[in-house]
Amino acid sequence: MKEELEKLFGEALGNLKVAGEESQVTQVRTEFLGRKGKITALLRGLANVSPEQRPIVGRLANEIKLSLEEKIRESLASIQARKRKERLLHEKLDITLPGRRVPTGRKHPISEVCNEVIEIFLGLGFQISEGPEIESDYYNFEALNIPKDHPARDMHDTFYISDEILLRTHTSPVQIRLMEKQEPPIQIIAPGKVFRCDSDVSHTPMFHQVEGLMVGDNITFGDLKGILTIFLHEMFGAKTKVRFRPSFFPFTEPSAEVDIACVMCQGNGCRVCSSSGWMEILGAGMVDPEVFRIVGYNPNEVVGFAFGLGIERIAMLKYGISDIRLFFENDMRFLGQF
Ligand code: PHE
Repeated sequence: MKEELEKLFGEALGNLKVAGEESQVTQVRTEFLGRKGKITALLRGLANVSPEQRPIVGRLANEIKLSLEEKIRESLASIQARKRKERLLHEKLDITLPGRRVPTGRKHPISEVCNEVIEIFLGLGFQISEGPEIESDYYNFEALNIPKDHPARDMHDTFYISDEILLRTHTSPVQIRLMEKQEPPIQIIAPGKVFRCDSDVSHTPMFHQVEGLMVGDNITFGDLKGILTIFLHEMFGAKTKVRFRPSFFPFTEPSAEVDIACVMCQGNGCRVCSSSGWMEILGAGMVDPEVFRIVGYNPNEVVGFAFGLGIERIAMLKYGISDIRLFFENDMRFLGQF
């Protein structure tokens, strides 16, 4: 039996020597030491060996098994080491290769411009106020001196939820909500979304406005001109020419539309400004005494001004964009430029 054991051991070592893959090594283990392995099978006959020989053969068998195990482990380790070495040899690291850029998000140009507008007015002492996007007919129209059959409603066609509930067409209702619950002095801006049934290169069904309202006991049209001129100079540059034109809004009297010299042609006249040299940028005026009366103020004691500007319009002028819809298509090629 001793000779047979040694023969098997030799055979196993021989197999190990030529094994080049891990699977071939584990194959040797199963073939000789496994439950049905050759050495295991041989040792089942140990019971038939004479009692004197049994311990000797037993010890030898143990030594052979341990030694074979050891050789198998060594062989596995050396195969793994060789494989790693080969892999590292092929896996050359090119440290000159440019890194992969992780795409980072950034603010939408409309948010960017909106924040810029807000910052300027905060610097002028205004505070931020907000109101609901779903409004009642009362706050959106009636309280702003726009009765049911008023022609000014034509410019404010919107989305109705019911006869009395609608998506606000401007941020002016915030003026009413604020004055109803707060006494003068008031100096606020109200940024937010507004909605109109409109869609073409310069109109989208949803857009953004910033409302402004300043009410006290000694506020003049001169203050309105001063504040808006400072704002426009901060926004478009100190040399930008500003012009106030008489206009009409039912909730301001007198009312003005404010233009800046065309940013494309600097006032010389071009396609963008329809050769006029000017571009309309916002609406404004002195708060109509009727509005003060509606919110419960005494029109003989308080005066104030209000203005409303469109964020998209400012962004279009600032960046020279001719189609407002680009802001809402969210094409990354467009957004990535800001
Ligand atoms: N709410 C007006 C509009 O959307 C703008 C405006 C606001 C005009 C405040 C005057 C005063 O057209």
